[in-house]
Amino acid sequence: MSIKLRNKHFTGVFVLLVGLVGVLSCSKDDGLPLAEEEEIPFAFRQPAFFPKAVESAIDPKTGIPSNPLTKAGVELGRRLFYDPLLSANKQVSCASCHHQSKGFSDGVALTTAGVSGKPLERHSPTLFNLAWADKGFFWDGGSTNLESQAFGPLTHADEMGMYLPVLVERLRADATYVELFQKAFGELPSEHRTAMALSQFQRMLISADAPYDFYRREEQPDALSAEQLRGLNLVRQKCGSCHAGELFTDNEFHNNGIDDDFGDGSHEGIYWGRYRITYNPLDLGAFKTPTLRNVMVSAPYMHDGRFKTIDEVLNHYRFDIKDTPVTASVLYQNKDQVGIPMTDKEVEDIKSFLNALTDETFLKSREFSSPFK
Ligand code: HEC
Ligand code: HEC
Repeated sequence: MSIKLRNKHFTGVFVLLVGLVGVLSCSKDDGLPLAEEEEIPFAFRQPAFFPKAVESAIDPKTGIPSNPLTKAGVELGRRLFYDPLLSANKQVSCASCHHQSKGFSDGVALTTAGVSGKPLERHSPTLFNLAWADKGFFWDGGSTNLESQAFGPLTHADEMGMYLPVLVERLRADATYVELFQKAFGELPSEHRTAMALSQFQRMLISADAPYDFYRREEQPDALSAEQLRGLNLVRQKCGSCHAGELFTDNEFHNNGIDDDFGDGSHEGIYWGRYRITYNPLDLGAFKTPTLRNVMVSAPYMHDGRFKTIDEVLNHYRFDIKDTPVTASVLYQNKDQVGIPMTDKEVEDIKSFLNALTDETFLKSREFSSPFK
C-alpha cells in the first residue's frame, strides 16, 4: 500500500519535471515547427495553498477549456499587451495603464493615459492572480471572463478607442503577428484570437513569491519579523473576512463604508458599484475586494483612487467608515458600532506585514515585462 502511494507521488513529480524540462528546452529553441509549438501546453503554476485556479470557460461539447494555455499563445499575448498598435492613435497599450512595477496598476487615481486624454471614471486595478478571479472582472464584476473583458479597453473611446475591423487589418498587415497567430492558433489574426491570447498572458501573471509566501510554504521560516507576524494575525482577524485566504481577497463585492451617497444613476450609474449589475439594493456601493498582495506598490487606493497612502486607508477603517444600511456588517467590530478598532502599534504591525506581501520576483520578472525592450 505504502509503495503504491509513493509510486503515485513519484509519477506526479515526474510528470511535472517532464513538463518543466519541456518548457525550458523549448524556450531556448526558436526554430520549432509551427504545429508542434501550437500544442505545447504552458506549465501553469498552481502555487501551494492557493485554491484551484479557474480555467477558461469549459466547452460543453468537448469538456475541454475553450482557451487552453500554450507557450505560443502566452508569448503572443505578452506582445499584444505591450503593443500600442492596438490603439486608435498607435500610442496606447494595455501597459500604458497597467505597469508591471506597480503590480500592473498605474500609480494615479484616474488615468488620462487613454487615446482621448480624458480621465477615466475608475482607478486602474492591479492585474495578477486573475486565474483565481472566479466572480467577475472590473470593480463591479461587470465582465464575466477575461476573454470578453479585453474588448472593453480595446474599444472604449477613452482607453484604446479601436475599431475592431481596423485592428484585424493592422495585425494581418504585420508579418510578425501573422506568424505569431499562426504559431499560437494556426489561424490568421482575428478579434477573437487577440482576446484569447491577451487572456492567456494575463492568466500567467501569478504573484506568489512574497516574503509571506516563503514563510507560508516554510521555505524560509524566519521570512517574517515578529512585528510582521503580529501584523499577519491582525489582518487575518480584522480584515480576513474580505481580504481572505492566500489570495488576500474573497473576490466578492462588499460595501466597505467609504461613501454614504451613491449617486443618482448618471455616469452609467458607476457610483452604484455592484448594484449597477445586480439591481439588488443591498449591493449599492459594493465593489470587488482588491487583493492586499503588492498593495504597498499599488497606491492610490479604492475604485476611484481616493486614498493616496496606506495610512489614509487604515484611518478610514479605524475612524471613518460610514454607517449606512448597506455597510458590510463585518465592519461593525467596535462593540457593534461601526469601525475596526486598531491601536497605533497595531497599525504599525499591519503596515509592516503588508510590506511582506510585496513580491519583487513578480514585479521584476522578465517573463512579464515588455518584449519590445
Ligand atoms: C487608459 C487606461 C487603460 C488601458 C489602456 C487598459 N486598461 Fe485595463 N483597466 C483600466 C481601468 C480604469 C480598469 C477598471 C475599470 C472598471 O473596473 O470599471 C481596468 C480593468 C482591467 C481589468 C479587470 C481587472 C479586475 O481584477 O477586475 C483587466 C483584466 C484589464 N483592465 C486588462 C486590460 C487589458 C488586457 C488591456 C489592453 C487590451 C487594458 N486593460 C487596457 C485602465 C486601462
Ligand atoms: C467588508 C469587507 C472588508 C473588510 C473587513 C476590509 N476590507 Fe479592505 N476593502 C474592501 C473592499 C470592498 C475594498 C474596495 C472598495 C472600493 O474600491 O470602493 C477594499 C479596499 C482596501 C484597500 C485598497 C486596495 C486597493 O488596491 O485599492 C486596502 C489597502 C484595504 N482594503 C485594506 C484593508 C485592511 C488593512 C483591512 C482590515 C483592517 C480591511 N481592508 C478590511 C473590503 C474590506
